[in-house]
Amino acid sequence: MLDTAYETITVQPLTRHIGALIGGIDLMRPLAPEQVNDVRRALLAHQVIFFRDQPITLDQHLALGRHFGTLHVHPNSPGPDGYPEILQIHSDSTTKRVAGDRWHSDVSCDEEPPMGSILHLHTLPAHGGDTLFSSSYAVYESLSPGLRSYLEGLSATHDGEPTYRQRNRLRGIDDSGKTFPKASHPVVRTHPETGRKGVFVNSNFTTHIDGVPAAESEGILRLLFERFASPDFQVRFRWEPHSIAFWDNRAVQHLAVWDYYPDVRSGFRVTINGDKPFL
Ligand code: SIN
Repeated sequence: MLDTAYETITVQPLTRHIGALIGGIDLMRPLAPEQVNDVRRALLAHQVIFFRDQPITLDQHLALGRHFGTLHVHPNSPGPDGYPEILQIHSDSTTKRVAGDRWHSDVSCDEEPPMGSILHLHTLPAHGGDTLFSSSYAVYESLSPGLRSYLEGLSATHDGEPTYRQRNRLRGIDDSGKTFPKASHPVVRTHPETGRKGVFVNSNFTTHIDGVPAAESEGILRLLFERFASPDFQVRFRWEPHSIAFWDNRAVQHLAVWDYYPDVRSGFRVTINGDKPFL
């Protein structure tokens, strides 16, 4: 059923907690302020939104992202020549590890992690290659009041080094001498626009909860990571060539399923800068 609260787009919610399919908009053209406003409202309401049949160029992709903020440059993966703010997402028969193969919020190791990401895939495998998105609001709201209030007193360390160094080693890139972002963020963050609370730890970047015994940190993180993996809080997106997914990194985690080796899956991501998480 369509959500009728929008003037310039159609919005079809996909699950109760997360995800909506957007129609009635051409992302190859500059957006009018009313369209930007509707897309932003749909993103805030549904946390991740999807578009079909949008064969955008790299310049159109950048322009789309700039409607929603300044653009992020990835700390480990340089963009194609002349496009520092483009992150290439590509896997084929030579790939040893795909981007996004663990639950994560993009570059949460940054002091000010990205607000959102817009992924356009132009080439898909014959089968598979879906992306899963899990709602951090739904995870938070599934916890008991006592656990919520315990978690609200905690912060956790997010470190880019382990995952980026492993990725570089698998790609044969010498990164000795390079340093990677590392930051401490509240375990529960309040979304700066919706005011809703969500859990903000992920299995790709979060190494430990600060200031508690290691066994306690491991136990709490395991419990929270398992909640994100629950299908109850997720939407699973089946890509078609030139689909676009736009997700809110402050409210979702995502996981790229690599079930299509040795086929090719390819596209580009533009990432929008965010701000420092707060409780
Ligand atoms: C990512 O941005 O983490 C990759 C997502 C995907 O390839 O589906």
